Amino acid sequence: MTSVKVTDLVKDYTLRTGLKRTRLRAVDHVSLELTPGRTVALVGESGSGKSTIAKILTRMERPTSGTVDVRLDDGTPVANGDYRREVQMVFQDPFASLNPFHSIEHHIARPLKIHRRTRTAEDTRRVVLEMLERVNLTPADTIAPRRPHELSGGQRQRVAIARALAPGAQVLIADEPVSMLDVSIRLGVLNLLGRLQREDQLAVLYITHDLATARHFSDEITVLYRGRVVERGPADAVILDPHHDYTKLLALAAPDPERPGRVTSEAGVDRESIDNSTCYDHFAGEWREADVQAAEARTDA
Ligand SMILES: Nc1ncnc2c1ncn2[C@@H]1O[C@H](COP(=O)(O)OP(=O)(O)O)[C@@H](O)[C@H]1O
Ligand SMILES: [Mg+2]
Repeated sequence: MTSVKVTDLVKDYTLRTGLKRTRLRAVDHVSLELTPGRTVALVGESGSGKSTIAKILTRMERPTSGTVDVRLDDGTPVANGDYRREVQMVFQDPFASLNPFHSIEHHIARPLKIHRRTRTAEDTRRVVLEMLERVNLTPADTIAPRRPHELSGGQRQRVAIARALAPGAQVLIADEPVSMLDVSIRLGVLNLLGRLQREDQLAVLYITHDLATARHFSDEITVLYRGRVVERGPADAVILDPHHDYTKLLALAAPDPERPGRVTSEAGVDRESIDNSTCYDHFAGEWREADVQAAEARTDA
């Protein structure tokens, strides 16, 4: 089993418009931890830096500063060569993430071979079918030869999940895994992720803008606003007792299944006045300055 400790992560992008260069801080001193058997939801509106964090965690981007420490159970750091096996990503768009020219079997066989999980062709074939069954794509032998366009969006996302787990990944970064899927099949895919997480004791980062599914599918919620963490805590505490104005706004925007059609006011929260310089930490039961939080993370390390 594998844990991830993200400390004081910063990511700046340089934007060029004509002759001018401006710096955009997409991620601003973010710390978080992923542990086996737990799901942490990273919640925030579009542009808040969620995908940037996901890309840094999966080494598709380098941080400007800060560290990502990935360790096995016994405390040994995961070697660079093993990193991609241990930490895998499920992307938002299941159309874009699968190759239209390759069969479903090929998509899952490839990581098995690259990471030497199987030795012979028969062995690979057997494990591919097992993986398809695990993600409820049955009968597996009729799904395996198909191409991505012959599957529905939900089925394609199940293939993407099977492919992510094929190398034996212990850490799964799911970046808005159901937001492009039909509403009616979202719960099925989230339930699948939940089951796999429990069966394999995966450490999961569930990225979403939807507080309702964050509460249902996560142990912890971390709320991101303009690149900074503004609230964190156990899922129920964050949803039922939001402290930060931004979390309150998100909670109001989330549909309440117990009160359908409820018209919500903005609870007296003025969007313009929301700042991201403080963070409410439900674990500590106190407000913290964003920089203090980062400084503490530094001294811990
Ligand atoms: N490669 C990039 N170059 C420049 N700016 C980027 C790049 N990737 C993301 N950004 C900017 O960083 C901010 C955070 O983006 P992102 O992490 O994709 O947010 P989210 O996933 O929460 O919608 C946005 O303002 C976005 O425009
Ligand atoms: Mg995103």
